[in-house]
Formats: sequence, structure tokens, C-alpha cells
Amino acid sequence: MIIKYNESLKNYNTFGVAHKAAEIIDCQSETEITETIKSHAGKPLQVIGDGSNILFTADFDGTIIRPLLYGIEPTRIDDNHVDLKVGAGVVWDGLVAYCVSNGWSGIENLSYIPGRTGAAPVQNIGAYGTEAADVITFVNGLYTDSAKPFRLSAAECNFGYRRSIFKHELKGKAIVTSVEIRLNTKFTPNLNYGSVKAAVESYGTINLKNTRRAIIDIRRSKLPEPEDIGSAGSFFKNPEVKPAVAQKIKEKHPDMTLYRQPNGLIKIPAAWLIEETGWKNKRIGDVGVYKNQALVIVNHGKSSGQDILRFSDMIVESVFENFGIKLEKEVVIIQTI
Ligand code: EPU
Repeated sequence: MIIKYNESLKNYNTFGVAHKAAEIIDCQSETEITETIKSHAGKPLQVIGDGSNILFTADFDGTIIRPLLYGIEPTRIDDNHVDLKVGAGVVWDGLVAYCVSNGWSGIENLSYIPGRTGAAPVQNIGAYGTEAADVITFVNGLYTDSAKPFRLSAAECNFGYRRSIFKHELKGKAIVTSVEIRLNTKFTPNLNYGSVKAAVESYGTINLKNTRRAIIDIRRSKLPEPEDIGSAGSFFKNPEVKPAVAQKIKEKHPDMTLYRQPNGLIKIPAAWLIEETGWKNKRIGDVGVYKNQALVIVNHGKSSGQDILRFSDMIVESVFENFGIKLEKEVVIIQTI
């Protein structure tokens, strides 16, 4: 267990905001997490992985716990499937690379997503037509009130678009320690999203390795590299609206692309709403809209969490005034306690 006090958070969040935390505890085993839960009874624990989907908006006057549990353990393998139990601390893209190199298919479309495996079920990370929920079978962890273990099935996790029980009913009440996933031992391509198929074909053969390469290329062209420029990927969710609402906007803006969802709602690209409202390439101080993707808010240097939050609220307000649609934040906002 490594404990740091009064530590800058700059290296613990991909936005690179430099607020401080009163205490940061790195736990390398379930026993260490259990000890931490018990020694902090009654006090809130904020879990983070690599801080790639959060925004600290002030100094954090509490304890941050990082479950750095490693290991990728195949628990069962047959002709068609492999089951893996993956520690929460395993870097997500390291897991994807490992699976692709073994010929295991199912998460290659989730290549190059920053963060650690423990965050995958919390956010239900998703990209290019695949979601973590498509492969997760069980999520293991500890409840923060009792330190008792849980093993929740995928159905019990209530997965939805960037949502799960861990972001809602169990928010602040559970620490994920490992994730169980089921992958295919044969390549099962999922290339229907946007330009993915064409990008894979540009490498010659449609196979697992080329799918990963193509996804990495697409992501690199749209999203900033955390080492170069601070961000947390998409800042907002793409809104899902009733068909009548989408229809009304479409009448005024025939160029807008709409995506019908299986639940009957219509997904409107938030990036389009933001650009159309005039925020493309906007910058105030060190906060700005990313040049290649309006859904991404970036920290050009010395922004505070408050600067970024204010900027995002301005976008929400003007999109609402323009379109009557209230954008929801995808990034988790962490206030002090
Ligand atoms: N779309 C489809 N089907 C397609 C192509 C696009 O439904 O075949 C929709 C998307 O759902 C979205 C819009 O078209 O509404 C624009 O798509 P684009 O690929 O530009 O993606 P995006 O909206 O910028 C979303 C995710 C990204 C993810 C990409 C690729 C959110 C908030 N963001 O971004 O996730 O990588 O799609 O799938 O849903 C993140 O969560 O941080 C993130 C980067």
C-alpha cells in the first residue's frame, strides 16, 4: 500500500488539473482495499483508475483510493470462447492488445481507450459499435460500507449507454476489484460503424490485428493524446431524444445526421449541436473545444477544474437556447467533500 498526503492531482487525471488531494492510497490487493475501507469507516472514499473520465473541480479534502490489482487470468477456454478474469488495475488497452495478440475477439473495437479495466463496467465504455457490456459476464468488488465482497452478473449491473449500477444506485458504495469477460476464440468482426470497415480494408486483410490498427488510427485522428493535451475524451453524452424532437430539428437543419436507437429514441451527435451553436475552435483562456472533435473539451495548460466546468456549462446553456436539448456530461465531476 502506498499512501500520499496533500498530493497534487496533476498526474492523476488526464485533464491535468492541479488541484490537491488530502490523501491518495494505492492498493495492490483486495486485503489492502479491505484494510483501507475499514480504517476509513464512515468517511467517503473516491475511487479512481487513471483519472481519464473525471474532472476535479477543487482541492479534494478526502481520500482517493486506486485499486491497482493486476493479472489477466483465463478461467475457462473451449473451441468458441475464452473466459478471462481481469484485475481492475490492468491498463485497458494493454488488455485489448493482449487479447488481440492471442487471437481473442470481442474488444478490438475498444482499442486505445484510456484508463484501467476497473472503470470499464462503471462507465460501460463503448466505441465503434461495441460496449464493455457486450463482453462482461460478472463484476467483482467490495462494498464500501461493510467491506463485503460482491459478484454482480452483467444483468445486475444495469448497463446502458455510458451507464451502470456503479454510476447510479451504487455510486460511492462499491469498489470494483476485477472484471470477468467472455471473448470469442475466432474473429467475429463488427465493422458496421461509420468508416471502420473501409479503414480496416485499407490494410489489406480484414482480420483482428488490422481491426485494432484501424480503430487506433481513427481514434488518434479524432481525439487528443493525453500526453500532449489534457482532456477526458468526450465531455458530453450524445443525446437521445424522442423522434418528434429530432424531426423538428431536422426540418430546420436537413444536413443533420440522425441515428435511430434500438430503444426507439434518436441519437443526435452532440458534436454537431455544439459546432452548430458556434463553439467550434472556441477557446477561453486555457480551456477550449478540441479542433478535431467538438465533443472534447481540452486543457491547453493551466486551466483549473472550475474553469473547465464553467466552460462546459456555457456550452450546455447555449446548446439549450439554440436547440432546446440539455446536454448531459459524460465526464464525472468530482467536487470536494
Ligand atoms: N454514429 C452511429 N453509428 C455510426 C456512426 C456514428 O450511431 O455508424 C453516431 C454516434 O453514436 C454519435 C455520432 O454518430 O452519435 C457521431 O459519431 P462519432 O463517431 O463522431 O463519435 P462521437 O459522438 O464523437 C462517440 C463516443 C466516443 C467513441 C465514438 C466512436 C460518446 C459520448 N462518445 O463519440 O467515446 O469513441 O463515439 O464510437 O458517446 C468517450 O466516451 O470518451 C469517447 C471518446
